[in-house]
Amino acid sequence: MKNVLVESVSKSDWSALALISVRHADGSSPGQFYMVRTGDFPVVPRPYSVFLEEPKKGLTTFLVKERGLQTSRLLDLKPGDTLQLRGPFGKPFPVLDHPVLVAGGCGFAPLHYYATKYSYSSFFLGTETKEELAFLRLFRNMKTCYGDEMVTDLFLRANVDGPVISCGPSRMLRTLSQADRPAPVYVSLESRMACASGMCLGCPVKTRNGEIKFVCKDGPLFDGREVDWDWLI
Ligand SMILES: Cc1cc2nc3c(=O)[nH]c(=O)nc-3n(C[C@H](O)[C@H](O)[C@H](O)COP(=O)(O)OP(=O)(O)OC[C@H]3O[C@@H](n4cnc5c(N)ncnc54)[C@H](O)[C@@H]3O)c2cc1C
Ligand code: FES
Repeated sequence: MKNVLVESVSKSDWSALALISVRHADGSSPGQFYMVRTGDFPVVPRPYSVFLEEPKKGLTTFLVKERGLQTSRLLDLKPGDTLQLRGPFGKPFPVLDHPVLVAGGCGFAPLHYYATKYSYSSFFLGTETKEELAFLRLFRNMKTCYGDEMVTDLFLRANVDGPVISCGPSRMLRTLSQADRPAPVYVSLESRMACASGMCLGCPVKTRNGEIKFVCKDGPLFDGREVDWDWLI
């Protein structure tokens, strides 16, 4: 793994989310992720999507939401600390013709990177709290919600045309994939990972025709209509 210096850390109110920029830029593309570890924890590094890469500044930024022990350690990092990276892994998102972007929580990270590089028609975002929403409302004209209001409802009510790229909790991705719309829905899946290269067989996804694929090597983006959701969730 490569040791990299933390350049900056900025946190949302109540500190549930952080943007962590590190001195590293390796030509990642939207949709790709790094395996990340702090010191010797955890033994097996964990995946985090690239939120932004700025080659001229030599910086890569990750968006982290506190879930458990590793994410709380990441949120405690300060400028000048180090973390360990391996990657980038995963297939870049395809560049589509003005897709609709739909994000839930820290699923915002890869869609943010996509939206900084390519055009899109509209951007929907749902978060758990209004503090998280205030932190992530970074583009003009985003359609947003928080708390009990579901971003899937917001998106379906808006009745927008075109292909969708989405990232967020599995249930949100399932709802979008099963919506009655003619255009394709691509979903960026989460899974527990170890090797990130298809060797450990730790991140399987079953497709509706019975094939087993792997989130790290074949994804993380999949055609939502090809995923066997009953098997996955
Ligand atoms: C391709 C990919 C990209 C990711 N990008 C980001 C990102 O940009 N920002 C971010 O904050 N997180 C991201 N994650 C999720 C991140 O890897 C986990 O949140 C992290 O490993 C949790 O570690 P922890 O020790 O804090 O939590 P743990 O103590 O390990 O887990 C806390 C809770 O979260 C659940 N959980 C942990 N990891 C996952 C997972 N991968 N999928 C579903 N549930 C899980 C556990 O079951 C448990 O309920 C990504 C995951 C994948 C696969
Ligand atoms: S993490 Fe090992 S096969 Fe995907």
